[in-house]
Amino acid sequence: MPNNLLAGKRGVIFGALDDKSIAWKVAERCVEEGARITLTNAPVALRFGQINELGERLNAEIIPADATLVEDMEKLFQQSMDVLGGKIDFVLHSIGMSLNVRKGREYTDLNYEWMQKSFDISSISFHKMMQTLWKLDAMNDWGSILALTYIASQRVFPDYSEMAESKALLESFARSFGYHYGISKKVRVNTISQSPTMTTAGSGVKGFDEFFGYADKMSPLGNASADACANYCVVMFSDFTRSVTMQNLYHDGGFSSMGMSPAVLGL
Ligand SMILES: NC(=O)c1ccc[n+]([C@@H]2O[C@H](COP(=O)([O-])OP(=O)(O)OC[C@H]3O[C@@H](n4cnc5c(N)ncnc54)[C@H](O)[C@@H]3O)[C@@H](O)[C@H]2O)c1
Repeated sequence: MPNNLLAGKRGVIFGALDDKSIAWKVAERCVEEGARITLTNAPVALRFGQINELGERLNAEIIPADATLVEDMEKLFQQSMDVLGGKIDFVLHSIGMSLNVRKGREYTDLNYEWMQKSFDISSISFHKMMQTLWKLDAMNDWGSILALTYIASQRVFPDYSEMAESKALLESFARSFGYHYGISKKVRVNTISQSPTMTTAGSGVKGFDEFFGYADKMSPLGNASADACANYCVVMFSDFTRSVTMQNLYHDGGFSSMGMSPAVLGL
């Protein structure tokens, strides 16, 4: 139910590919809550995804940008400020891709060029995004920046491979940049650590279906859905969370606090 939590705010949403994408749900909820947004994704994803339909429905301009290219980031944020009529209040980084996972390389036999590309896409893009916003002075005071992450950054989930290190780096960027943005602009930077979710990126991980069921059983509240994640993002973009920064926030139905669950053992 809409509560106008984001009335008058301007946002930029990265990573909506199709209607399963977490970013897709976040975009819908943000607009429902009164925000005006621009949508962005890599040019190749714009060709194959369904983002045009979303853009039309939400009255959101779609601005192509490869998140690994600083010049694309500059154009994106400049154009977003022009289209939205002012500085930006919130940004969602919802980008993840591992070349080694996609090409089926074992963790003990990784290709390092692909690893660097994976880090660039999944993590360094977050720093590039924030540094560009910083240099353009594109964020409003008390703005909110979020990235989506996964608990494999902190605990071992073998099939997540190099994405574990990608997410550890991503979470560290949130803390380090959160310091600078907090001091200078009262802008907060956080990561949300989401449950396994049935999306294109999620289901690229080996054994994802079995793992999804395991995590669902381990979590007292069950896996958090993409819709629930969108609600959490809205709260984090709203003025009700102005003092929350430099945190990795678990949105996982309780999974991260569990040791053992009788449900998993079939007891
Ligand atoms: N699905 C899960 O189980 C799960 C769990 C926790 C966290 N996450 C994280 O949520 C985020 C969103 O993933 P999703 O599950 O919605 O899957 P998704 O596949 O729908 O989204 C990933 C997005 O990254 C975009 N992308 C890839 N390379 C890019 C580039 N160079 N420039 C710009 N964009 C690029 C893709 O086009 C796509 O839109 C990712 O960070 C992912 O790691 C997912």
